[in-house]
Amino acid sequence: MLLGVMGDPIAQSKSPIMHTAALRAMGISGAYVPLHITPDKLGEAVEAIRTLGFRGVNVTIPHKVAVMAYLDILDKSAKDIGAVNTIVNTNGILTGYNTDGIGYVRSLKAEAIPDLTGTRILVIGAGGAARGIIAALLQESPASIIVSNRTADKALELAEEWSNKGNITGITLDLIPELLQDIDVIVNTTSVGMYPHMDESPVDTSLFREGMVVSDLIYNPLRTRLLQESLERGCRIHGGLGMFVYQGAYALEYWTGQPAPIEIMRQTILECLS
Ligand code: ATR
Repeated sequence: MLLGVMGDPIAQSKSPIMHTAALRAMGISGAYVPLHITPDKLGEAVEAIRTLGFRGVNVTIPHKVAVMAYLDILDKSAKDIGAVNTIVNTNGILTGYNTDGIGYVRSLKAEAIPDLTGTRILVIGAGGAARGIIAALLQESPASIIVSNRTADKALELAEEWSNKGNITGITLDLIPELLQDIDVIVNTTSVGMYPHMDESPVDTSLFREGMVVSDLIYNPLRTRLLQESLERGCRIHGGLGMFVYQGAYALEYWTGQPAPIEIMRQTILECLS
């Protein structure tokens, strides 16, 4: 089975290591390779999935939106989010999925809060990652979702666009402190705090309440400054590693029809981060 990941750059991607270990554990012969594809070659690269007989590929930055134009079918997950991270090739028919959001929610529920029904969730950031997370969170019947972003207009527009899907509001960052008393789950979807800028935090944690769930999509470092400070304030913390593992697990399950070896995938990434 031929698999891969298309991106630009791609050398830093941990997907090949994780999927190679998973294929071996599943007893499937094949390869998962990094594919360095520049934007001007994206159309040809997608065509080559068919030509070369790849069963599927993951798609990463900067191609997640642009790739949609080259596919035959878009799954609801991809349509809702407006981006694709997984392509499945079924006899030359290419279907685009998005497993980022469902991967995130599965990991949040497994690792931090089993039931999101009725919760009040604050999402920081309004880019591509936030869209994936919010689309999946809306399926979990939260009481409300509040989106806040450095460029406030993007948060307001996102909330407006999805206002028919649930109780979702956009706010400016300066309003966060007065809302914190009513928030159950905070999710950072921005890159603030990511290696090598590890001394940064996207939000002031001084008003965080004990017992609140604080989740960060970043997995390098495993514990961002946001998570470290939250832990010191008695919050329950959830890092981004699980999302990365589960988005890959869903993709692998679509390609192979078999359950993915979650723990082996997690251990493989942990070893290459440490
Ligand atoms: P991704 O797909 O990772 O979400 P993106 O679509 O480029 O990438 O979105 C990045 C998000 O991180 C945006 O919400 C961005 O805020 P702006 O819309 O104001 O650009 C946010 N972000 C990135 N760097 C940031 C910083 N230094 N401070 C605050 N927010 C930041």
